[in-house]
Amino acid sequence: MKFALISDIHANLPALEAVLQDIEGRNVDATYHLGDLVGYAPWANEVIERLRRDGISGVAGNYDSTVATDYKHCGCRYEDPRQEELSHLSYAWTREHVSPENKHWLGSLPFRIDLRPLGGHTAGPTLTLIHGNQTLNTVYVTEDRSDDFLGKMGAGLGARAGDIIAFGHTHLPYHRVVNDIHFVNTGSVGRPKDGDWRAGYVVLDLGPEKPSVEFVRVEYDVKKAAAGIRASTLPAEFADYLETGGKVSPGR
Ligand SMILES: [Fe+2]
Repeated sequence: MKFALISDIHANLPALEAVLQDIEGRNVDATYHLGDLVGYAPWANEVIERLRRDGISGVAGNYDSTVATDYKHCGCRYEDPRQEELSHLSYAWTREHVSPENKHWLGSLPFRIDLRPLGGHTAGPTLTLIHGNQTLNTVYVTEDRSDDFLGKMGAGLGARAGDIIAFGHTHLPYHRVVNDIHFVNTGSVGRPKDGDWRAGYVVLDLGPEKPSVEFVRVEYDVKKAAAGIRASTLPAEFADYLETGGKVSPGR
């Protein structure tokens, strides 16, 4: 059973369209999203509507649940005052532009999804989809977290040896195995932060043997995405960010 896992699309419709087209050629059994559908780019409603039209289910990212509930901030991390300001601008823009119907739909997304592709009548494996960690969708589960941290996360989700936990939020892909539980960060479709501007997602193949995890990068029309941001009332820095894969040099 083969799954495509797409996370952190962040209103980047050109990136989403390229990824969905790439997935079409890969003979996957199902596609799921891991949240953060909106924020930082102008196609928030269009991204939501494309996923709804294609019947792609998924979990609520911090951006989705905070926009849905008109919470006071998006739960995003920032490292300096300018980043904080940009974060607030993106959040205010998104709250203002996502339609009431789409906000309501964002609010209906589950916090986690458990899949038992080989059958719920057998012991496993279980594939659990979340955005952050087991308690909050705002927690950054970065690759440098300790084995103890990941062990607690696995236990908190009720995972057992051989299970897979897939998540996003950090926009930095990786695969680690702790206590024989697979922790897969799928990276980001619409706002990568690893210096590679191409859209990122994961194809996960779950067979009777151990899972195979493929990190895929897809070229898309990043110029179109950047131009869309610059033509909107969003800060132009978000366009620079996409073009550099999150490595905007200071002063640019
Ligand atoms: Fe995100």
